[in-house]
Amino acid sequence: HRHLLGIEPLDPAEITTILDLAEDYVTLNRSTDKHSEALRGLTQINMFFENSTRTQASFELAGKRLGADVMNMSMQSSSVKKGETLIDTALTLNAMHPDLLVVRHPHSGAVDLLAQKVNCAVLNAGDGKHEHPTQALLDALTIRRKKGRLHRLTVAICGDIAHSRVARSNLILLGKMENRVRLIGPPTLMPAGVSEFGCEVYDDMRKGLEGADVVMMLRLQKERMDGGFIPSEREYYHRYGLDAEKLAYAKEDAIVMHPGPMNRGVEIDGTIADDINRSVIQEQVEMGVAVRMAAMDLLARNLRAARAA
Ligand code: CP
Repeated sequence: HRHLLGIEPLDPAEITTILDLAEDYVTLNRSTDKHSEALRGLTQINMFFENSTRTQASFELAGKRLGADVMNMSMQSSSVKKGETLIDTALTLNAMHPDLLVVRHPHSGAVDLLAQKVNCAVLNAGDGKHEHPTQALLDALTIRRKKGRLHRLTVAICGDIAHSRVARSNLILLGKMENRVRLIGPPTLMPAGVSEFGCEVYDDMRKGLEGADVVMMLRLQKERMDGGFIPSEREYYHRYGLDAEKLAYAKEDAIVMHPGPMNRGVEIDGTIADDINRSVIQEQVEMGVAVRMAAMDLLARNLRAARAA
């Protein structure tokens, strides 16, 4: 592939290749000398049109550890504020010969559109409600390491499914790897047509969690609710917040995941989030750097091969 725009175009072998290479980068990141030459000579530009802590920091670290020249565009102080369009901004940066563009944008499809206009590799760092491919890959690596496999697991994804690109990319990936995916949440936060992806849908959290190997919690994405139904946080926590009583319905060794940023006391009890015997939230962050290194390394190999041809 030339770009990483979503999980949708990847087949199971390609997913496994990324995760296997990411394992090498987990080892490198835990060593004293964290540097590799994989992106030496290449320029990476990060363009985040939406807030980020984890994704932006890990893409920046990933690029630097691979030897790239990394530039973080500050979109808040860019000429976008003077009315320049996304495409004009991208074409302007493209003229500076970047090799990798990492883009987050609030509109679904915006990153795909941009990828058609530039002649470098584009990585989707999250577009609207559409996809967040590196998040699903880092979640998959975390699950594979903790459960010893990435197939025939029961994974419960809980909360605001309708507005979540994390849920969408995860359910596509987990389905491709032959897992059983359950979506749990209030009907108002469940998108139409999810059963097409072969998922089971629950609005009762206890029933949905029964026998789950993995419990993945999601934040209420109020910024995408556009004045529609916003549940009261107290009521939501009561019905859908993960606490010890509800978690007891999952398997005894079930792991608890959250992509972050999390809202303690809204979708998850702080004690569960901090329980190192159950919660793998910090491991997810660690895997994020390794997976992004692997994704950029593989795209750079394709880029170099295409230029040499
Ligand atoms: N999980 C995730 O995408 O977090 P950020 O929004 O902080 O990047």
